[in-house]
Amino acid sequence: MALTPSTHKATLTFSDGTPALELPLYHGTIGPDVIDIRALYAKTGKFTYDPGFLSTASCNSSITYIDGDKGELLYRGYPIEQLATSCDFLEVCHLILYGELPNDKQKRDFVAKVTYHTMAHEQMQFFLRGFRRDAHPMAVMTGLVGAMSAFYPDSMNLNDPAQRQISAIRLIAKMPTLVAMAYKYTVGQPYMYPRNELSYAGNLMRMMFATPCEDYRYNEVLARALDRILILHADHEQNASTSTVRMCASSGTNPFAAIAAGVACLWGPAHGGANEAALNMLFEVQRQGGVAKIGEFIAQVKDKNSNVRLMGFGHRVYKNYDPRARLMRETCHEVLNELGLHEDPLFKLAMALEKIALEDDYFVSRKLYPNVDFYSGIVQKAIGIPVSLFTAIFAVARTVGWIAQLNEMISDPEYKIGRPRQLYAGSPRRDVPAIEQR
Ligand code: CMC
Repeated sequence: MALTPSTHKATLTFSDGTPALELPLYHGTIGPDVIDIRALYAKTGKFTYDPGFLSTASCNSSITYIDGDKGELLYRGYPIEQLATSCDFLEVCHLILYGELPNDKQKRDFVAKVTYHTMAHEQMQFFLRGFRRDAHPMAVMTGLVGAMSAFYPDSMNLNDPAQRQISAIRLIAKMPTLVAMAYKYTVGQPYMYPRNELSYAGNLMRMMFATPCEDYRYNEVLARALDRILILHADHEQNASTSTVRMCASSGTNPFAAIAAGVACLWGPAHGGANEAALNMLFEVQRQGGVAKIGEFIAQVKDKNSNVRLMGFGHRVYKNYDPRARLMRETCHEVLNELGLHEDPLFKLAMALEKIALEDDYFVSRKLYPNVDFYSGIVQKAIGIPVSLFTAIFAVARTVGWIAQLNEMISDPEYKIGRPRQLYAGSPRRDVPAIEQR
């Protein structure tokens, strides 16, 4: 995408005698300007240093915008609050993938395309059988998604837009099927094939919870809650897993391999694994005595030497509040009402923890608010999704974001393989001594 130059420039001066350097500035549509440092090394022999990417825009993108101070999240310009209340997940997928919300006909076509790609290759169940039954679903998903490149070799060429399009639809369509298969395998139940007349979220619920022995009808409130979880997690600009997908695909590897890399990164507890970690934390506090023990637990969290974090709290970008958390909190109460679970001890504990953390100066002064995954874990648990499957559900949602970001990168004429540099802090050059002198 063409960058919009600013009339202003940045001037970098050095105290070591290196001549000053004028660097171009570019405007985004909204958000901070960027300083273009691409010529810095060639002109000064110096790199920039930004571990954790605290001040670095790694690309330019038109998909998602976050204002962390305002607590704002936009997909293709539309506020998440409007999308979450007016659209379903597949409409949001269309928006993220193609840039616009679908009209009636486009929606029907898109839903039909996704629906008719939901079956996984029959041979995949034999591949799945190679895993231990107690394997973590994210270990299984990393393998299954990577293995799609072995099952669908006709949509592997990243440089062919038609193949990228087919792999995109295949991934969005088959992720729920694969997650449900991974779950059924763990519990030793038969796989349930997808049903074309059901909604995306409804189909996922049926594939997870139905058995061939009886009819299954999903609860509409719960299906809508799951759909909202998917919408809220669909994309989040250049987060760790998305950056992983971009970096991986920048080598020209196939889309399935790149998305498998994203799944692997998402698994970590600081990222997508937070929903599982948050629930496990609640179980642990419950085990130690529940609401009565919250004070002790919070003291542990505040103790720098304990390495205990309040999982589901804090965010690298949102320093005011996470707009997704507000929507998920609403859904959480709807689901608890629907299921009559407001008095459940675990949910009471979660609400008590939320209250204390929102008032405690440690959290307030560090701008640590509940993030989306604090509530999404509670909602998923109430729906009946096993805790170890939470992050796999996040992966279902984020697949569309990963693919859209990958497509955007590959279609950019300025795209190059990602190759960061480093500040070397090891030994200077030395010679290998003879073995008796080491
Ligand atoms: N509990 C207790 N203290 C915390 C927490 C937490 N959850 N998060 C940050 N802090 C403290 C941290 O110890 C540090 O304190 P001090 O300034 O005294 O050293 C300060 O807050 C800043 O923390 P940081 O680690 O520098 O912040 P970061 O921006 O690098 O980390 C984070 C962001 C999300 C990794 C972190 O807040 C965290 O580990 N949260 C828990 C895990 C979690 O819920 N992750 C899900 C994120 S939302 C889903 C997604 O988008 O993937």
